Amino acid sequence: METMQYRNLGKAGVKVSVLSLGSWVTFGRQVDVELAKTLIKYAYDHGVNFFDNAEVYGRGRSEQIMGEAFKQLGLPRDSYMVSSKVFFGSVPEPLPTQKGLSRKHIFEACHQALKRLQTDYLDLYFCHRPDPEVPVEEIVWSMHQLIMQGKVLYWGTSEWSAVQIMHAHLIAQQHHLVPPVMEQPQYNLFFRKRVEDEYDYLYKTVGLGTTIWSPLASGYLTGKYLENPKAEGRFNLPKFEWLWESVLGNKPRIRQRATQRFVQLAEKLAMTPAQLAIAWCLKNPNVSTVILGASKLEQLKENLDTLQHLDKLTPKVMEKIEKIMLPASDKV
Ligand SMILES: NC(=O)c1ccc[n+]([C@@H]2O[C@H](COP(=O)([O-])OP(=O)(O)OC[C@H]3O[C@@H](n4cnc5c(N)ncnc54)[C@H](OP(=O)(O)O)[C@@H]3O)[C@@H](O)[C@H]2O)c1
Repeated sequence: METMQYRNLGKAGVKVSVLSLGSWVTFGRQVDVELAKTLIKYAYDHGVNFFDNAEVYGRGRSEQIMGEAFKQLGLPRDSYMVSSKVFFGSVPEPLPTQKGLSRKHIFEACHQALKRLQTDYLDLYFCHRPDPEVPVEEIVWSMHQLIMQGKVLYWGTSEWSAVQIMHAHLIAQQHHLVPPVMEQPQYNLFFRKRVEDEYDYLYKTVGLGTTIWSPLASGYLTGKYLENPKAEGRFNLPKFEWLWESVLGNKPRIRQRATQRFVQLAEKLAMTPAQLAIAWCLKNPNVSTVILGASKLEQLKENLDTLQHLDKLTPKVMEKIEKIMLPASDKV
């Protein structure tokens, strides 16, 4: 088994494993504390040092499960990083004060996350979406203050535009506050524009780090839905019908056909489609870490095994992937 690699989180000094583990959909719905312990321990033993979470995942349940799992595993707190995100709220129908990026909600959401995760500080804390109803000054000050209080080590954004991120930097510079260091954008063979084009200037100037999500487009790129759209998996969970539209967008046939050819290419390379899709994300040097999701240990094993196959992505193979997948991406 190849050993884990580590990359700096953009310009920040901290090193994050290139593969990390997230809990969206899985923890609290498909994964209980026992399985969470198994997944976290397996990932940790294979060099994963970052575990991603958010107040909204399972409306707090995901953080509770992760917190309980870490407590029972008893891993040294200085050997891994844990995150949370604030914006959507942690109760089913949040009141105006229970969501968004006001100082009040940021402050309270952070304390609630710390309690649920049973930890004294969050290594990474993300603003889960931009909030146009709150002045950016208030957001940057609130994050800065949490860092000064020792409750957060690094703060960042998720799905903010390049202009919004730059605005936060401008304010941080003006007031000598700690700026955001990382973004959490979607990045996979279908959704590329933001990470590859829009943020390009930010990598070169402010040294943006990225913790990218949905490397498998929620599992679609594994090819498991091609022959059987009713296959067991996230797309067929109750209340997840919206995922088809969200992943396949306005080019379902193009994305389906491209995925078929992608699966064949993976076979030729003696890799699984999941491994090829994850390895492709890792080829981008502006990706600090690829956040994996897994509802089963077998999936996590397969996905972490990607590291064994990285050298198969030669310039020629990258060209082949480009030819097959570019037309199915948001760049075209
Ligand atoms: N910031 C944001 O807005 C945002 C949004 C989404 C996610 N995230 C973060 O990013 C993490 C990863 O995103 P994601 O879960 O969407 O990643 P993903 O890798 O695109 O999808 C993971 C899901 O695909 C299926 N899968 C994974 N490996 C497989 C394999 N080898 N074979 C077959 N099926 C496989 C599993 O679901 P099934 O078994 O159910 O099919 C798994 O839960 C999340 O956990 C979360 O921490 C952040």
